[in-house]
Amino acid sequence: MARLGGKVAIITGAAQGMGAAHARRFVAEGAKVVITDINREAGEGLAAELGSAAMFHTLDVANDAGWAAVVSAARERFGPVTALVNNAGILGPGKPCAELDEADFLKVCAINQTSVFLGAKHVIPSMIEAGGGSIVNISSISGIVAIYGTPNVAYAASKFAVRGITKQIAIEYGKQGIRANSVHPGYIRTPMMTAALDDEQIKIASGSVPIGRVGEVEDVSNLVVFLASDESGFVTGTEHIIDGGLTAL
Ligand SMILES: NC(=O)c1ccc[n+]([C@@H]2O[C@H](COP(=O)([O-])OP(=O)(O)OC[C@H]3O[C@@H](n4cnc5c(N)ncnc54)[C@H](O)[C@@H]3O)[C@@H](O)[C@H]2O)c1
Repeated sequence: MARLGGKVAIITGAAQGMGAAHARRFVAEGAKVVITDINREAGEGLAAELGSAAMFHTLDVANDAGWAAVVSAARERFGPVTALVNNAGILGPGKPCAELDEADFLKVCAINQTSVFLGAKHVIPSMIEAGGGSIVNISSISGIVAIYGTPNVAYAASKFAVRGITKQIAIEYGKQGIRANSVHPGYIRTPMMTAALDDEQIKIASGSVPIGRVGEVEDVSNLVVFLASDESGFVTGTEHIIDGGLTAL
C-alpha cells in the first residue's frame, strides 16, 4: 500500500536537491504534492515530470503573503494540506562572527528559521480542518552541535531555532492531531554541497563520516516519508539525526 496515500503535501525548496528528491518520493508513495521554490523554471520542470499528482507554485519561504497563496492553491487543487516539509534553506556567507554583517545574519534567519514558523502558521488551520497532519522541519547537524572549522553563526542560530520551533509546535497542537519533528542531516550530496565543497573536500568529508560516505538525497527522503506518514503516528517533538554517525563521534 502507498505509504502516503491520501496525503496532500507542500514541500519548500523542492526545485532541486533534497526537496526535489522528497517530491519525487512523495508522489511515488501516493501523495499529492505542491512543489514550491523561488526557482520557477526548475520547479515547473519537476512538476511536469511528476504529472497530475504534482503542481508547482512559486514561493519565497520568507514571505508571509506568499504562504497564504500557496496554502490556498493547494487546497483548491488537492484539498486541505496534511503534510508540510519545510526544506528550503541557504548557507549564507559563512564568515567568522566578527566579520558577518547583520543584514546577512538576518537573511539566513529569515529563510531558514522564520520560514518554518510561517509555514506552520499557514498550514495548521488546514491540518486541523483535515483532522491532523505532519510537519517535518529540515534543520541540520548544525542544529545539534557547532561545526568546527566552518564558521557560520547565522546558519547555526537558524538551525538550532528550527529544533525549538518544532518542539513548541508539537506540544501546542498534539491534541489536534498535528505532529512536528525536525530532521538533522549531515553531509548530503546536493547542489548546496557541491557549491560549498570540491571533489577533494567531499572525499575528505566522506572519510570523516563513520559510515564511510556522504549521504545521498534518497537517504533523507526515506526518513522524511516515515515522518510524514501515519507509520510515525506516535513520534512528535523529536529531532532525527541522519549523518552516517558523524555526531556520534
Ligand atoms: N546538503 C547538505 O549537506 C545539508 C546538510 C544539512 C542540512 N541541509 C539543509 O537541507 C535543506 C535542503 O538543502 P539542499 O542541500 O537540498 O539545498 P540546495 O541548495 O540544493 O536546494 C535548496 C533549494 O531551496 C531553494 N531556496 C533557496 N532560498 C529560497 C527561498 N527564499 N524560498 C524558497 N526556496 C528557496 C533553492 O532555490 C533550492 O531549490 C536546507 O534547509 C539545508 O540547510 C543540507
